[in-house]
Parts: sequence; structure tokens; C-alpha cells
Amino acid sequence: MVVRRVCVIGAGVSGLVAIKSCLEEGLEPVCFDKNEDIGGVWIFRDETDSNPGSALYDCVVTNSSRQMMCYSDFSFPRDTPPFIPGKALLKYYQDYAEHFRLRPHIQFHSTVTRVEKTEDFAKTGQWRVTVLHEGEETVHVFDAIMPCTGFFSIINYPMYPGQDEFKGTVFHSNEYRGNEHMAGKNVVVVGGSHSAGDISVDASLTAKQVYLSMRKGTWVITRSGPGGWPGDLYMNRRINFLLPEWYRRNAMKKDLLSKINVDNLGLRCDRELFCSEVMVNDLIQSSIFCGKVKTKTGIDHFTKTGIVFTDGTEVDADVVIFATGYKLRAPYLDTSIVQEELKDLELYKYVFPPRLEHATCACIGFMMTIGAHGPAFELQSRWAVQVFKGNCSLPPIPKMLGEIRFVRQMIYNRYGKHIIFIPPIPYQDSLAAQIGALPSFKRYLFTDPALAFRILFGPALPCSYRLVGPHPWKGARSAIMGVWDIYSNATRTRDVGKPKPNYWPLPLQVAVLLALVALLIFAT
Ligand SMILES: Cc1cc2nc3c(=O)[nH]c(=O)nc-3n(C[C@H](O)[C@H](O)[C@H](O)COP(=O)(O)OP(=O)(O)OC[C@H]3O[C@@H](n4cnc5c(N)ncnc54)[C@H](O)[C@@H]3O)c2cc1C
Ligand SMILES: *[C@@H]1O[C@H](CO)[C@@H](O)[C@H](O)[C@H]1NC(C)=O
Ligand SMILES: *[C@@H]1O[C@H](CO)[C@@H](O)[C@H](O)[C@H]1NC(C)=O
Repeated sequence: MVVRRVCVIGAGVSGLVAIKSCLEEGLEPVCFDKNEDIGGVWIFRDETDSNPGSALYDCVVTNSSRQMMCYSDFSFPRDTPPFIPGKALLKYYQDYAEHFRLRPHIQFHSTVTRVEKTEDFAKTGQWRVTVLHEGEETVHVFDAIMPCTGFFSIINYPMYPGQDEFKGTVFHSNEYRGNEHMAGKNVVVVGGSHSAGDISVDASLTAKQVYLSMRKGTWVITRSGPGGWPGDLYMNRRINFLLPEWYRRNAMKKDLLSKINVDNLGLRCDRELFCSEVMVNDLIQSSIFCGKVKTKTGIDHFTKTGIVFTDGTEVDADVVIFATGYKLRAPYLDTSIVQEELKDLELYKYVFPPRLEHATCACIGFMMTIGAHGPAFELQSRWAVQVFKGNCSLPPIPKMLGEIRFVRQMIYNRYGKHIIFIPPIPYQDSLAAQIGALPSFKRYLFTDPALAFRILFGPALPCSYRLVGPHPWKGARSAIMGVWDIYSNATRTRDVGKPKPNYWPLPLQVAVLLALVALLIFAT
């Protein structure tokens, strides 16, 4: 079984990097996307466009900072602000496709309707892919497939008693574009995550009143972290994940609670931080402070003209927006390969269906991390192509199934429901280790201590996976060393002298470094 031709399904954030990874390894990718252009959810559409994949509102800004959001070997332009407006992000993905010449491999307006194993799959591992293009179906055979159709096309749309008789409008957040139509209205936004926060704040600029309805409350994470630097630079350091979780959680909670009084704002979440969904938002606090947004409990039922919440209070409503998220589905694949319910989902490291005779199906982007997704999807792709090439192999089926069950149970215990929401760094490191792209602190400690230091104590940037391993990038080291300067390039538009990066206090750094050196010497 030799893999040469690979079918990539979808040309969003995950599809693009899947194509790139195939090209790097000399494979022949053919990508089909039902849209007219690349970008997936980041394509902006106006109200008249009813494309179900369209998911973004005009005011969207990334919830991760630019150096955590980018792919490992392609930087944002220098003048990109630390957090990227949606349209600038789409431009980045377009530039990426241009730079690595991905477009010739993509066929647009092409919907994959069916993907099946060929009759001799047991021998060849090949797949038969049915594609609908301009009303015509064609069938193609591929050596491997990479489904990259994402987590964000099938909406989660709840039904409450009385909803049918409600006289106002009800829609999902993926149809929200801007606040023009909210003017003077009473708006109820349902949900506790990013979109619910963004839409509440945006709608409140024109609405009469916005109510934010949350069953469980939420943890609000601000984009700015300690010292006013992007918070994800602190959250996502490798050293953090060597420390016990209680320590990480307490440090972060202390920072968050020093900025936001979750009780006074009615936001308090009854689950621990990192054991519940979060809302990255810098503005919700001031919207509530100014009375523009009021927090409410979950919905009990609709009346003809309003909402009754579970605490018995009632409000008039003209518009109800469900920011209730999305479901993972791959309708073109048999449910024995990608299961319909998250509680049944069997993907080894969220990528490989474990029960196939050949590892020729790699799902990219069928998961979410508590952080930027692109870099995680990139490592999934880089690992997948190494498996296709036979340079990496998967463990025996029982071992994969065991790991899947273990991870699923761990997450269930933590969240009390089946979701996929994991810290990015340990996951990315584990994928990188598979392909030999994990940067080693030990290796650099004596040859390049400054870099070693950044690898452990600095943010675990995507480009750190391009120092070693397949297809390294020459710019990786300088991108790692320059991280703090680059962040402020777009915002320090008035000269204020040299900025000071903000690591741990120096004595603590020295102590930990010495302890690690001692440990290394002791262990070898
Ligand atoms: C409101 C919102 C804000 C977000 N903010 C962030 C953020 O700040 N940072 C972050 O990392 N992530 C964010 N995300 C998540 C982000 O969308 C994902 O990280 C990423 O864009 C998903 O990319 P994807 O390629 O996996 O899926 P998609 O972008 O959904 O792309 C899937 C592609 O597959 C195509 N497709 C689907 N079915 C078929 C088919 N049968 N045949 C052919 N083609 C098909 C679609 O047309 C689409 O182009 C956000 C998501 C939403 C909804
Ligand atoms: C950013 O938003 C996406 C999509 O809603 C989410 O999966 C991801 O975890 C968010 N990032 C952070 C840091 O919360
Ligand atoms: C931003 O980058 C440009 C181009 O490299 C440089 O000329 C400029 O001085 C930088 N500005 C700041 C504030 O760092």
C-alpha cells in the first residue's frame, strides 16, 4: 500500500494546511470545497446569503493572539495588531494559499456527497469519493482521505416550550452579522461562550436592552494578561504544563478575578476554571457596568412576547439569538467511521479512526483546543502525512481504543458532559513528538541557552515546531526570539522607548533553571 493521491475535503483553516502538508511530502493532494473560495468559516457573507457554512459576525476578532494563531512557518505581516480582526485573518489565509501555491490543488463549488471504502480496501486502503459539481456527480478513487470539514457547519439549535408561538424573531448566532437590526429592540442572547459575549456587546450598542441568558455562568478571560501583554502568551508556556494543574488554575484565577468581579456581574460559573466553557471578552464587563447588558439564568419557556427564565423572572423580547454552538458532523462518511455523537466519537488523537485496516483516513480539525486552532490542525496534518508515508505507525487497535476511552472519560469527568476542549500545548507537543518536531530543552541547553530558555519559559509558539523535524523553517529561531517586539509593532505607534518583556521574576527563573539543570545532570 503506497499513498500518493490524497483527497482533502474542505479548504478552511484545516484543509489548507492539509494540502500544504501533502505537498511538503511529495504527495498529490486534490481538495474539494463546496464554497467559492478558501477560508471556511472566515469567509464573510451579507445577510442575504443563506449559506449554512457562514458563521461569522462583522465584529469578530480572534480570541488568540497573532503569534499563537499563525501557522508555524508563515508569519502575519508586521503591522497586524496583536488580536486579528476576522477580515485580516481571512487575508492571511489567502496569502498563505498564494505563498505555498495551494490554489491549483483546490476545486471550488464541489461538494463531497459520499466517501466509501473501495471493494478492495482491505488490500489497498483506497477510498471512493463522490463529488457534486454544477449538478453533476463524478466518482474518484484516492489512496487516502483527509476530511477537513470542521466543527462549525452544523448548528446546535435548542427548542424551548412556547418557542413556536413567540411573535419575535429567533435565530442562531451564525446568522448574526451586525447590530443594525437590533436598534431599539429587546434582545435575548443565549449562551455562555465567545459568540454570546461578542454578540451581547455588539447588539448592546444599538439595542434598547440586551439580556445574556446563561444556564451555568461562564469564566470570562480577557485578551490582555499579566502586565498588559496578550494573556495567551502566559497561558501557553510549556513550563506551565509541567506545574501541577491546581497551581496553573489558581494563578490564572487570581489574574482573572482581580480584573472582573464575577459575582457582582452575575457571571459566576459553578464549575471550576478549565472545567467549563470560557468566554474570551474584554468588553462584557463594561457593558454590564453600564446597564447595557443584564445577565439572566437559563430560559424556562417562551411566551408570545417574551421569555420566562428559570428563576421565574420575565422580560419582553423582540429578538432571541441562540449562541449555542455547533455539532461535529461528517455526513459524507459512514457513522462507523466518524460517529454522530461526541460520546461515541472514536478518533485516535482526534485524527485517525482506529478500526480501519489501513491508516488512510486522517480527520483534520475534528476537535477544539482552548486556544488557537490552526497550529493544532497543522500538527495533525504533519503527523497524518508521515503516517501515510509509512514513516510513523499507529499503535495496535486495542491500545488506540484504550487511549480514546481514557481521554473521553477524563474530559467527561471534568466537564460533566461530552465535549472536546483540551489545552493546546500538551496535545501539540504529543503530536510533534510523533514526527520528531518537538523542540528539546535539553538539546539546546548547552548549545543555545537563550533558545532553550524561550522554549521552556516563553510562549510555546507554533514556529517552535519548525526548529527540528521534517521541513524545518529557517525563520523559526528569530521568530521565537523576537516574539515580544513583534507583538507591539502594530500598537506602539507612538515612540515610548524599548518595551520590557514580562517573564517570571528573575530569581524564580534562575532557581527553576538551576533545579532543571540539576535534575538533568542527576537523571543522566
Ligand atoms: C464565531 C467564531 C469565532 C471563532 N474564533 C476563533 C478564534 O479566534 N481562533 C481560533 O483558533 N478559532 C476560532 N474559531 C474556530 C475556527 O472557525 C476554526 O478554528 C477554524 O476556522 C475551523 O477551520 P476548518 O477548516 O476546520 O473548518 P471550516 O472553516 O468550517 O471549513 C470547512 C470547509 O469545508 C467545506 N465543506 C464542508 N462540507 C463539505 C463537503 N461535503 N464537501 C466539500 N466541502 C465541504 C466548507 O465549505 C468549508 O470551506 C471561531 C469560530 C467561530 C464560529
Ligand atoms: C476561540 O474560539 C474558538 C471557537 O469558538 C474556541 O474553540 C477556542 O477555544 C477559543 N479560544 C480560547 C483561547 O478560548
Ligand atoms: C515595526 O516594524 C517595522 C518594519 O520592520 C519597523 O520599521 C518599525 O520600526 C517597527 N515599529 C515598532 C514600533 O517596533
